[in-house]
Amino acid sequence: MGQEIKGKIAYVTGASSGIGRSTVLELAKEGVNVGLIARTETKLLEVAKKAEALGVKASIATADIANMEEVEQAIATLEKNLGAADILINNAGIGLRGSFLETDPKDWKHTFEVNVFGTYHVTRAVLPQMIEKDKGDIINISSSSGLKGTAGSTSYSASKFAVQGMTEALMQEVRHNNIRVFTLNPSLVATELAFGDKLDEQDKEKFMQPEDLAEYMVAQLKLHPRIFIKQSLQWATNPF
Ligand SMILES: NC(=O)c1ccc[n+]([C@@H]2O[C@H](COP(=O)([O-])OP(=O)(O)OC[C@H]3O[C@@H](n4cnc5c(N)ncnc54)[C@H](OP(=O)(O)O)[C@@H]3O)[C@@H](O)[C@H]2O)c1
Repeated sequence: MGQEIKGKIAYVTGASSGIGRSTVLELAKEGVNVGLIARTETKLLEVAKKAEALGVKASIATADIANMEEVEQAIATLEKNLGAADILINNAGIGLRGSFLETDPKDWKHTFEVNVFGTYHVTRAVLPQMIEKDKGDIINISSSSGLKGTAGSTSYSASKFAVQGMTEALMQEVRHNNIRVFTLNPSLVATELAFGDKLDEQDKEKFMQPEDLAEYMVAQLKLHPRIFIKQSLQWATNPF
């Protein structure tokens, strides 16, 4: 039942920390070769080294995903070093807090530039190769705030709703090419994005961990290619 993912090639954005970092390492444990994208080279190198120690090939490429040219260069680098992606995990994102009127218009726009346009830029660069292979998996990390509006995070919620719409529409366009496109929608995960510099003060065990999401993604990727869960919501058992 299901499928082997060993030997596949996965590109992961936001691979330098949090959920992306854990996802790279979980995929590497499964024998998947990994391409890592984020802005911070030193952190990417550290994660890539850990992945290689698990016996897979790893390649890094720095890019601000809001910038289409940087993304195109990064994907070209990963293709040259690893080959075309079988799996794309659009995980990079920012989480701006602030109510509708409080939030500076520039910050509102920037949230969309990273969370929505960033996801678009990376997918646009990777998708033609998947269509050529006539198979692939694209996982977009949205959020529980992308399914239900969260007061005090209006720009973040709006951007993650946009990711849902883009995912659903693209999924309908490319399911005939055997490409599975779906979202994961986690509630609070113990990372810097959720807790900022207060992360170390949290009782982290109460919240989902980045590695929980990583294991969840691997389980979905191992499903038989004829099936996928097109949208799912991940909740912590007892966080409060
Ligand atoms: N933590 C939660 O509670 C939670 C809940 C629901 C959904 N999510 C989603 O999960 C995803 C990962 O979040 P996380 O919690 O793991 O956060 P995190 O620890 O802050 O990691 C965010 C990652 O995105 C990268 N990144 C940010 N802006 C970027 C840009 N402009 N270009 C390229 N890379 C960029 C960061 O790397 P660099 O700084 O090195 O670029 C980092 O690797 C996000 O999409 C977030 O919205 C998180």
